Amino acid sequence: MEVTVAKSAGFCFGVQRAVDSVYSEIAKGSKPIYTFGPIIHNEQVVSDLESKGVQVIHSIEALQTIQNGTVIIRSHGVPKVIYDILEKQGVRIVDATCPFVKKIHNIVRQESEKGKIILIIGNANHPEVEGIKGWVKGEALVISQKEEMEKLDLPKDSSICIVSQTTFNHNKFKYLVEIIEKKGYDINVVNTICNATHLRQVEAKEVSSKVEAMIVIGGKHSSNTQKLYDICKEECDNTYYIQTVSDLDLCELKSLKSIGITAGASTPKNIIEEVHTECQK
Ligand code: F3S
Repeated sequence: MEVTVAKSAGFCFGVQRAVDSVYSEIAKGSKPIYTFGPIIHNEQVVSDLESKGVQVIHSIEALQTIQNGTVIIRSHGVPKVIYDILEKQGVRIVDATCPFVKKIHNIVRQESEKGKIILIIGNANHPEVEGIKGWVKGEALVISQKEEMEKLDLPKDSSICIVSQTTFNHNKFKYLVEIIEKKGYDINVVNTICNATHLRQVEAKEVSSKVEAMIVIGGKHSSNTQKLYDICKEECDNTYYIQTVSDLDLCELKSLKSIGITAGASTPKNIIEEVHTECQK
């Protein structure tokens, strides 16, 4: 049987880098180690880290009580004020902010210092957007819906810098920009969408179109995994959605000649490898 694992299956570059940085701190023997928020939305990874002594900090209040040790900042990034607090407390920072997110922080800081209004296209409650807002000098606008963009009413001579949340939908971003473009402001659009998700989907479609069965691995409630499943199912009727290797029914797959594997953004490499090995048995 030929098994093809999508190259983009599982963690994106930024998340892999953040998870690696926690394991590397453990290996170095740093103590105590904290992450500000769970390093990834994957219970197995978070509990494995907890069993190795890594503590998850959930609030700024809790962060303010830390007096020593290492705090790891996850790939979503955080507002500038978090660095200020940690530096004041003399706590060591390991900054695992994804470089693509860091780039947005730099853009909004520089452009707002020049006096531009910052408009973030994204979901206001998402930690990444909260982090970006926290690098803006002054207030930032956050818009995710057509109606909000249509209602936007700023002085005619406003100069606006537009950025986007890295995981925002590309077509929706384009559409929202088209609405503001008609309003006659002086705008500078920086498309900061990361294409990791898009690439994963394109590759899933490609692999699933060539195999007899496709396996999609990811958490039950993971919306990006569900999306991958839908894409694969359209190409390959024999598509299975599993969480771990134990959900795999090998009897159903035994007689097949080719299988494809992909995985959602929060699926660790070892789970993908276990499924891969099992298929080759
Ligand atoms: Fe991942 Fe960084 Fe893109 S965290 S989705 S590689 S912005």
